[in-house]
Amino acid sequence: MKITAVLGSPIRNGNSEEMVNLFLTGFAGDDIRIFNINELNCKSCQACDECKKSDSIECALHDELQPVMNSLAESDLIVLASPIYMDQITAQLRIFQDRLNVFLRKDFSTKLKETPTVLLYSQAIEDENNYKNYFKTLKKVYGKFNMKVVDTIVLTDASEHDEIKNNIEIQARLTNWQQNNL
Ligand SMILES: Cc1cc2nc3c(=O)[nH]c(=O)nc-3n(C[C@H](O)[C@H](O)[C@H](O)COP(=O)(O)O)c2cc1C
Repeated sequence: MKITAVLGSPIRNGNSEEMVNLFLTGFAGDDIRIFNINELNCKSCQACDECKKSDSIECALHDELQPVMNSLAESDLIVLASPIYMDQITAQLRIFQDRLNVFLRKDFSTKLKETPTVLLYSQAIEDENNYKNYFKTLKKVYGKFNMKVVDTIVLTDASEHDEIKNNIEIQARLTNWQQNNL
């Protein structure tokens, strides 16, 4: 099984990265690729529409996001993780998200095969329903590309970057995900 995980936090080993690591413990032996957008030399979508001229998923920017897109196209499972900044995903994950444009044809059909996708979020706000509508919107956004969101896991009350260590329930949900869902 090929799995691509995309990290949106600038904090190494923080809550969202640790959430990804815990999630992936169930997939030992699988082909796992992890990309940290903060560490990639990449630009946001320039709306040049070169990707609309063919079925290629090669972006005209030819930067370090291209291997991420190639990896997504080959994956059986996708994991996206981000902290919430100013009521939204981070700018890093937004850059990645807009660059998913490479998968859309001119008629908005997608070049990506249907791929189960799990969304992991970390937030300081305690109320797990605080961003419910926003997370629903993101689920719809990813759906447009054929990234079929099968689960959304939210770590709440996490103003410290090691808060995941105190949340046994979320830890269990992440480490047992493969067992419970596949
Ligand atoms: C610039 C900035 C903005 C933030 N805005 C929010 C916010 O709007 N809502 C929220 O619940 N938490 C907010 N937070 C808190 C983070 O989402 C939270 O600490 C998260 O657990 C960090 O994840 P990480 O350890 O993976 O970086 C913000 C943090 C920063 C640095």
